[in-house]
Amino acid sequence: MAGLLLEAAHITKTFAGVHALRGVSFDLAAGEVHALVGENGAGKSTFIKIVTGAESADSGTLTVAGRAIHRMDPPTARALGVAAIYQNPALFPGLTVAENIALPLDGGRAFGRVDWRARRRNASQILKQVGAAIDPDREVGRLSMPERQLVEIAKAIGANARILIMDEPTASLTEREIGGLLEVVRRLRAAGAGVIYISHKLEEIFAVADRVTVLRDGESIATRPRGQIERGELVRLMIGRELTTMYPKRVVPLGDVALELRGVSNRTRGVRQISLTVRRGEIVGVAGLVGSGRTELAETLFGLTPPDEGDILVNGAAAAIASPAHAIRLGIGYVPEDRQRHGVIPAMSIAANTTLSNLAAVSSRGLIDRAAERRASTKYVEELRIRTPSVLDAVEGLSGGNQQKVALARWLSIQPAVLILDEPTQGIDIAAKAEIHEIMERLAEAGVAILMISSELPELLAMADRIAVMRRGAIAGIVSRSDATPDRVMALALGHAA
Ligand SMILES: Nc1ncnc2c1ncn2[C@@H]1O[C@H](COP(=O)(O)OP(=O)(O)OP(=O)(O)O)[C@@H](O)[C@H]1O
Ligand SMILES: [Mg+2]
Repeated sequence: MAGLLLEAAHITKTFAGVHALRGVSFDLAAGEVHALVGENGAGKSTFIKIVTGAESADSGTLTVAGRAIHRMDPPTARALGVAAIYQNPALFPGLTVAENIALPLDGGRAFGRVDWRARRRNASQILKQVGAAIDPDREVGRLSMPERQLVEIAKAIGANARILIMDEPTASLTEREIGGLLEVVRRLRAAGAGVIYISHKLEEIFAVADRVTVLRDGESIATRPRGQIERGELVRLMIGRELTTMYPKRVVPLGDVALELRGVSNRTRGVRQISLTVRRGEIVGVAGLVGSGRTELAETLFGLTPPDEGDILVNGAAAAIASPAHAIRLGIGYVPEDRQRHGVIPAMSIAANTTLSNLAAVSSRGLIDRAAERRASTKYVEELRIRTPSVLDAVEGLSGGNQQKVALARWLSIQPAVLILDEPTQGIDIAAKAEIHEIMERLAEAGVAILMISSELPELLAMADRIAVMRRGAIAGIVSRSDATPDRVMALALGHAA
């Protein structure tokens, strides 16, 4: 068909008995943004891996720019102008922006003469094309996450990519940065590129997509122009039922102060003079831009990088938290943003991961009771709708969102005194998100003090009793639930006077 950049027909892919894709057909026209949506584990990332050649399909055909591709592999995909923009861009932090952009162009000619001026000029031109005001001479390691994403996009454009794939590109961006990224997507479309856009945030889909394809359990359920589908129907197609389970914030009587910070600093991590309390039953939100020190604060409290100044009190007692093991003994739980690093042990089973923090409950006389372990984890798999053939499967085979659910399930069995959640619903589908919010409410009702870092303003406004807004490593202000508005929180995060 004319104008089609990509045509995938009847793609099937199975992983060790899991039908990740069952006959998926999908196409992309030049100058089009085609969104791919679906629950965690529906097969979105697997489909992308097949288009980029990272995995090969069991059956089905791929046609790129009119050419039938019999064996897609990464070099072929690149040569055909297919580029994937990853959530954590694969850039070289020690090189400059211009060098990173030039890399795919003069890669291989390591000893060739480099025309630095032309390279810099070229980089500025491409950056301008994507609307990014970034100095090409800056070192990539010093850029913020959204800036790195823009460089990654510029790099793809520089390499003449015609099919851009974005798999949850905004997961760690704040609202304002998302607006910027969507603007770039529109520019790419106007320039004639095709964009495959994956996101769990339906507002983004409605803001930017021309067409939407819904995947469910590895099947393409529907493809519609954006104008011919509304939100409720889209959700119904994704989850195969009506989403009636929306949990409004419940009022929980607050108990004693469970966590208190008095002038806590961690100078090497850029955390400055944090004073804050969280009561039993309270959910305190932490807002701020990417790089404002939120994760650094969480890692300080969990003992990953102990503070160099100030006092931390847990249930009224001073606690010199020196390590994660120490934090856990004090009753502090932590679900990190980077789940691969501290959240789960990828090579271990779901059963082992979910019971990791409370081995006592599934052991007798010092031995782990495997049946008890399986029972306990099966309960969480059902409650959180973790999509897996068996609780004995390794966590590394799960889709991104399902891994996040395992990271959370780990802490549910012990009901810690303090639970720190860093972007708890990042990458989580809309139905599971409501489940996670409900679980947070239940934990609060049971007296757990929750500190929730989130880049999603609606989530903070809906769930938090108070919101601490961070800026440049310090608290710029604390807003109570009744006073919290998007403008107020954003003004504090950006340092604008109210
Ligand atoms: N390497 C693998 N080994 C085993 N199973 C896998 C592997 N990769 C994917 N799967 C399975 O294939 C299915 C689809 O996964 P995929 O990552 O494509 O989902 P997704 O739609 O991207 O989900 P999410 O929204 O959570 O990112 C899941 O059931 C997953 O467990
Ligand atoms: Mg995915």
